[in-house]
Order: sequence, then structure tokens, then C-alpha cells
Amino acid sequence: MSEEFVDESEENAGTTRREVLRGIAAVAVIGVAGCGGASNNSNDTGGADTLSGDAASDSGGDVADTSSDNDSGAACEATGRDAQGPFYEEGAPERVDLTGGTEPGEAILLTGTIIGLDCATPKGGYVVDVWQADASGEYSPGGADYKLRGIVRTDESGTFTVRSIKPGNYLNGADYRPSHVHFMVFDADGTRVLTTQVYFADDPYLGANDSCQPPTCNSYEAERIVTLADSDVDGATVKAGSFTFYV
Ligand SMILES: [Fe+2]
Repeated sequence: MSEEFVDESEENAGTTRREVLRGIAAVAVIGVAGCGGASNNSNDTGGADTLSGDAASDSGGDVADTSSDNDSGAACEATGRDAQGPFYEEGAPERVDLTGGTEPGEAILLTGTIIGLDCATPKGGYVVDVWQADASGEYSPGGADYKLRGIVRTDESGTFTVRSIKPGNYLNGADYRPSHVHFMVFDADGTRVLTTQVYFADDPYLGANDSCQPPTCNSYEAERIVTLADSDVDGATVKAGSFTFYV
């Protein structure tokens, strides 16, 4: 099966928080309907993730996005970019729980913190657009319910949380990609500063076994590989993990 590389960089490079928030307003009117709709991913199994924007030529996958504090001395290395992929949909609703309460799969709680390159400055007021596949490895088409898609914001400590289910592995060509969640980060001015993916420890398809390799994808970076552990959340046991983005 041939891979279809979809580079959405031209379309999305100028995406601003304002545009994202317009999407929020639009879906707020629609509301969250039932999630029983079939995915339209019938032709998605051949879709490969691709790096977006100027990182496409950056074999190291390092961040080349605009950052507001690059004059800090860059004491911390910027979080590596990763493919935006073909399944991003603008206009997801603002919500911490991406599941709608009914999504089958292993419950997870992800806690991310966004810190400046000085390794210290928390990035409060940032907007994070999150999307992922379902437990069977399929992406929803967006639309009315934006299944497993959502927008969250960082608090004053630069922290955001996402409740979801662990994404399934999916075929990219003839081989699988490791389970992953996509993140697109906008600063307080609405400028996109990072597009990346977060992976999970012990996934057999990480690194050299990933069907999508650098410079297109990069599942080698330990900083973006989350270890999940049992945690009590509202009386339920979920798999929780945390990570930090340096921008
Ligand atoms: Fe993906």
C-alpha cells in the first residue's frame, strides 16, 4: 500500500487561536451529540503523518516555530516537533474529557506542562488543540461531535489536563505506528508554537519499529514518551501520565 503524505502546512501554518476559538463558538451551537457515528477512516489506513511547516526539512525534528522567549539563553532544549498528520480537524470543542463519557477503551489522564526555554517560565494562557485515534486506531472525521478531539488551556502554572482513552495502533502503509496523541500548541497571542505527538512507554512500535520515521515522524524522543501508572481520579482508577513541553 502506498503512503499518502498529506502536508497541511500551507493550510494550517497561519492558524491562530482566534481561528480556533471561532471553531469553539461554532461547535458550541451544535452541541455534543451521540458518538455512535461510523468513522470515515476507510481510506485512512494508508495515511502517513507528516511534519508540518518549516520542520519538514528539519531532519532532527527540532522546534523551529516562533517562540516568545528564545532570548532566554535556551537553557532547555525545545520539545521536538512531530508530524501533524492528515487527521487534524479545526474547530474542536473546548473540553478536558475527549471521550464524551462513552468512548470504549482504557481510560487515561494526561497532564502536560508548558515551560519556556529558560526551563522555568510557566506558559499560562496557552491553548492546546488535542486529537487522537480511538481504541481501534481510527480517527473521527470531526463534524458534529469531534470524537476524541478537544481544546484545553494551560493554567497559570503552564499545566493542562486531558482525559481520554489510550489510542490504538494504526496501520501506516503495511506497518503500524505506535499509539500516540497529537498536540498543537498556541501561545497567549494565538501563534502556533509547537505541533508534536506524545507516545507511550513499552509500545512495541516505538522508535526503529515505527512505520513513520524521521524526518516525517519522530517517536525516539524520551521526553515525549509517557509512562502510565494507575491513579485514582474521581473514584475511578485510570492510567495517568505526565510530560513537559519546552517552547
Ligand atoms: Fe496520528
